Parts: sequence; structure tokens; C-alpha cells
Amino acid sequence: MRAAVAERGVARIIPSVAASDGAGVKLRRSLGSAPTQRVDPFLMLDEFGTDNPDDYIAGFPPHPHRGFETVTYMIDGHMQHRDHLGNVGDLGPGGVQWMSAGHGVIHSEMPRQSEGRMRGFQLWINLPAAEKMQPASYRDIPPADIPTATLPGGGRVRVIAGAIDVAERHVEGPINGHAAKRSTDPLYLDIELPPGAEFTQPLPRGHAAFLYPYEGEVAVQTAAGPQAVPRQAAAVLETDGDVLRCIAGPRGLRALLLAAQPIGEPVVQYGPFVMNTREEIERAIADYQAGRLTA
Ligand code: CO
Repeated sequence: MRAAVAERGVARIIPSVAASDGAGVKLRRSLGSAPTQRVDPFLMLDEFGTDNPDDYIAGFPPHPHRGFETVTYMIDGHMQHRDHLGNVGDLGPGGVQWMSAGHGVIHSEMPRQSEGRMRGFQLWINLPAAEKMQPASYRDIPPADIPTATLPGGGRVRVIAGAIDVAERHVEGPINGHAAKRSTDPLYLDIELPPGAEFTQPLPRGHAAFLYPYEGEVAVQTAAGPQAVPRQAAAVLETDGDVLRCIAGPRGLRALLLAAQPIGEPVVQYGPFVMNTREEIERAIADYQAGRLTA
């Protein structure tokens, strides 16, 4: 006999707080606002969104990373990134940059506009010890390479990482399978639902998962009843269930859904360096100061 499918309820809410990063970019940080506010393997989630150039124009001048991955997803506006390898890329609406810092990257992310709306997300995903010192790599993923699945009950889902099955169609994101597969096996969805529409997504048991509504409203449905999730907050789901079921509120919903295999190793973070031990952090700082971070 098979056990019934268990819906995952909300285990805790991580609210976002106003923060500033780079050379003074205003943003909202939920995951990563404190060391206790991580969801292994997710370290940080920043949402930036403003019509005021003063909030973004200073951008993110050259800075280092070591030991994890950064995923930037643009909704509105344009950023240009450059790195120490000479890569230059444009990140525009609907595009993603998936960067694995590995043992070291130095890059900048600067606005390529002086007015207008700038909106998007930056997510940090940890790497296991065995991959922290691999060579850096990144992929610019243009909007056309991110498949969109239309939901039978209305709405759509953009599949950035992982794969989903919708209406007997298997939809794979660009970060999935073969070379693009990550050891954390991430699922990264951008969900848009009309008012009252329902969305159900299977999630592997034991994988960490959270839902981050950024427009409209949503309630997570379980046998115990609905649990409303505040906007611009991460609703961390219980791990011992098989499926997320949620329903959009009267103004519809736009939300990110992230899930991944936890790494289960110690995390020691110092700013843009995320390692397993203090000694490794000290080495990262020394390597950066000596110009060896990317060597
Ligand atoms: Co960066």
C-alpha cells in the first residue's frame, strides 16, 4: 500500500528586511539577513526593485566571491557584468546569469541604464566542500532559453532550473541534467497565477524548499487548512512532504519557488566568501589580498 501524498505546510517565515549592498544598491534581503536565516543549501535571497535610479545607479563595482554560486534573475531593466576572465554580458528582462564562483571570481554588475525600472533577484546557493575550489564558471541564459509552461487552470511557470510536468508535458529548464546539473539539484521556478488559481508542484522528500511571493497574495494549502504567506517573505516549507499546493489570492500571484538538496556541512561566511572552516576563510582573504583568489 502506498502512503498518501503529503502536502508540505509552512514551517517558518523569513521576512525580508531593507538592506544596501554593492556601492549602495537598495534591496530587500530575506534569506541571509542573519546566519540563522539560511535554508541549506540556499544562503541568501535579495530582491531589488525600484523606479528611482538613485537606488540602483551605483551598482556593484568589482568584488570577489569564493565557495558558492550566484544566480541573478532580472525582471525589469538591464545590468552589465564583467569578470576577471574578460567575460562581458548583458542581463536583460527575463534573463538569468548562473555563476559558480568556485575557488574565485572577481566581477562587477553595473546598471546599463540611467533611468527607468530595475527589478530582479539575486540568489546564493552553497557548494559542497568538494566543489568549493573548482574553477569558476558562468552561464548567461537569455530569456528565450528559459521555457514557459502554461498551466491548465490559468497562469504560467518559467522553469529556470530543474524540470516540471504540466498537462502531460515535461518541461526542463536550462540548468538541469548532464553538464548543467548541480550537485544540489536545484529547482528554480517563477510562477504567475491569476486570481484564485491553484498550483501544485511535487518536491523530493528531504529537499529544502521555500516560496517567495513578490506580487499579489498566496496561501499554502494543507490538510490542516490554508496558511497565508506575506509578500516579500520566504515561506520555508516543511521537509517531510511530497508536494506544494498553493492558491493565488484575489489579486493573483507572482512568486519564486526554490527547492534543492541540502548539503549538511558547516557554513562559515565572511562577506562574499563562504567556506566550511575559519581557516579556509582566512586563506580566502589572504588569497584575495595577494591577488591569488582567481589564480
Ligand atoms: Co557578485
